[in-house]
Formats: sequence, C-alpha cells, structure tokens
Amino acid sequence: MVTGRLLDVLPRAAAVDDSRLTIGGVALADVAAEFGTPAFVADELGLRETAREYLAAFASRHAETDVHFASKALPCAPLTRILAEEGLGCDVASAGELAIALAAGFDPEHILLHGNAKSDQDIGAALEAGVGIVVVDGPDDVDRLARFAPSRQAVLLRVNPAVPGVTHAAMDTGSPEAKFGVALEDAPALLERIAAVPGLELLGLHVHIGSQLLDLDGFGRAAEAIAALGRFGTYDLGGGLGIAYRPGDRAPSIEDYAQATVDALHTFLDREARLIVEPGRSVVGRSMVTLYEVVTVKRGRHTHVAVNGGMGDNLEPMLYGQAFAPAIVDRERAAETCDLVGHHCESGDVLARGVELATPAVGDLLVMPVTGAYCYSLQNNYNGARKPPVVLCRDGDARLVVRRESMNDLLARDVL
Ligand code: LLP
Repeated sequence: MVTGRLLDVLPRAAAVDDSRLTIGGVALADVAAEFGTPAFVADELGLRETAREYLAAFASRHAETDVHFASKALPCAPLTRILAEEGLGCDVASAGELAIALAAGFDPEHILLHGNAKSDQDIGAALEAGVGIVVVDGPDDVDRLARFAPSRQAVLLRVNPAVPGVTHAAMDTGSPEAKFGVALEDAPALLERIAAVPGLELLGLHVHIGSQLLDLDGFGRAAEAIAALGRFGTYDLGGGLGIAYRPGDRAPSIEDYAQATVDALHTFLDREARLIVEPGRSVVGRSMVTLYEVVTVKRGRHTHVAVNGGMGDNLEPMLYGQAFAPAIVDRERAAETCDLVGHHCESGDVLARGVELATPAVGDLLVMPVTGAYCYSLQNNYNGARKPPVVLCRDGDARLVVRRESMNDLLARDVL
C-alpha cells in the first residue's frame, strides 16, 4: 500500500496510476514481470532534475561554482552519464572510480581525484587521464606526484578542520582523529612543499566533514577553521548534505546546502574564489528504489517478512542504523507491524525494524525507497547473492542498464 506521504521519498517521477505504483510512467509490477526481482529501479528525469536543481542553486548564489558528483555514492556509468550530460563534474576516490567516470563520459578536466591512501596506480591513472584536480591528502601524495613529474597538475590540499560532522560516527570525517587530510597545524609546511614541486599548481584547500549531515552549521565552522591558512583562489567544501529516508524525516534542501556553503565561503574565505562542492547522496539517493519480492512471512511473537535481497544490496541499516520506509506495492490491506528482513544467513540482516506493512503475503512486491546512494556501491555477494540489475525508467519506457549478475559471474574470477 502506497500512501501519498510515501511519494515524498519515492523518486520525483513516481505516481500512483490506476492503483498501480509507477516510476517514470512504468508500473513497478511490470518492471518485476519483465526484469525480475530484486531490482534497482531508477528515475531518469528525477536524476536530471536534481542535477539541474543543484546547478541552479549555486548559479544563483555563486556563479563560480563547480558541482562535482561524488561518484562513490553511485559508481554506475549508465546512470552517472546522465549527470555528466547535465553538466556535473565528478569526484573519484580511486583508479577504479576514475575508470567508471571516464566510461560515463565525464570530461577528465572536470574530474577530481581523492583518497586517503592513493596508490601509484591511482595517481598514475589520474595523471594519464588528465584529471582536472588531484586532492593531496598527505605528504606521501606529494612524493608520489613529484615522482611522476607531471608537466602541470592542479592540486588542492585536504585539511582536517577539527570540526566533527554531526552524523553517524563512521561518516564523520571532520574530527581531529579522522584519517583524512592533514591537521591544520601541519598544513603550512605541506603547502610549502607542494609549492616547491615543479609541475604542481596549488589551487587551494579542501575540507569534507562528513556525510548524511542534517545540520549545516559545520560548513561555516570548517571554513572559519581553514581561513587562517591564507587566501587561495579555490575552496572545495566537500559534500555531505543529508536526505530524508522516510516520510516526515527532516533534511535540509539543496537550496539550504547551497546557501550554507556559499555563506561559509563569503563570510570566512573569499567572495571571489572558485567554489567546489562534492555532493553524492543528495544527488542520487531519492532517484532509485529497490524492488523486492516477499519470499516468506513468519508470524509468531514477531512478524518476520523476508524478501529476496538484504544486506547484499543494502548495507545502510546494518552499517549506519539508517531507517527506511518500505511498502508493499499495489495492495490495499490492513497495516501490520513487521520486521523486514533479508535472505542472508545473519541475524543482523534486518532491512527495517517495526515497520507497518500492508499484511504481507508471499509473492507480494515490496518497494524500498531511497536506495540510490551507497546501496549499489556497497553491494556484495554474501551467501552467493547475485547483484540486482538496474532498470532505468522514463516516459513509460523501462530500459535495462545493468544486467543481473549470473551464476557464471559468481565463478568468473575463480581459477579452477
Ligand atoms: N567528498 C568526499 C571527500 C567524501 O569522502 C564524500 C563521502 C563525499 C564527498 C560525498 O558525501 P555525500 O554528499 O554523499 O554525503 N558509506 C557511507 C557513506 C560514506 C561517505 C563517504 N564520503 C554510506 O553508505 O552511507
């Protein structure tokens, strides 16, 4: 059963049409019939609109802004090519993500390489591709870059501002003990070293304090912290905007985030500087859902509703305690309080605890909203689960853009 409120967290192009839940004009029941379950179902126009909303929110506040999609949130070339088409740049954190970004069609000039432990391969691939910016995370990055002796490579220095991101501990990257970047007090010496390496062009500073941030005050505090390091032409204030996962969850808007980061730049840094932001979750989170089928229902002290997916395709509840709002598709029945569980051999494989579902029955379709960010990226093959396909919907048309993994895929790398 899908109520009007659930539409708040379903993709923008979701609708209930003749009692059928649709995304991009395609009924989820038809997606399941054609492509099977579990499946990721993405909303093309929703993705495009969000990308445009991002660009417009910054264009109206600080025209010199580059919006780089943090591809770790959804390293899926057929989907991120849509973001490239809309004019977003891309942030990658490894040679692997770089390969995906290049395949998606991002202009290398608009790609930025991160990583707290970049290998020779990561840096070599970035230089070979001609990425626009390498974000130096520490002295070893400078050594490696110097060894590769690029004729010209623009860099930013990532600084740990000692401003904790208000979020789950695993997603706070601004605390002094975080492994990313260099401490404020170590930054001046490293800035000098960078300046001394021929070929390296220091553009400015980078901070990223965390992910799923529901409080935006940290952006100003981080900017204030790095202001003491001098004036630069470019500031990258990272990503991190949190999103609503359930109807009624409160999260700042893209406009709020643009306002907070631009205010931080204008108040503490430099009105004339170029601003870079790197949102991931908030660009893609809402634009994709996971479609499952109910495999079994156990009613007893607890009602356990098990679907044909779980921690293999969504680790957010297990790793970060993220709450989701699943719903049974196209069935009007009385609500029942259930624990929604996966099919994996682990008690922790709980997708949503204590949720109201429309008296689930074996064979029902179930939709899990807001699985566009960090679900596809964190997939795994636990218990031999095969990764779901990605189906892209638009204007009544459903297109397979990533096929389902096969049994052969599970064995493809084995040398038997
Ligand atoms: N920039 C940097 C340097 C980052 O490390 C990240 C995320 C982002 C940008 C994008 O942040 P976003 O806008 O998506 O919040 N594995 C966790 C998320 C970890 C995020 C890591 N870095 C999860 O599954 O929720």
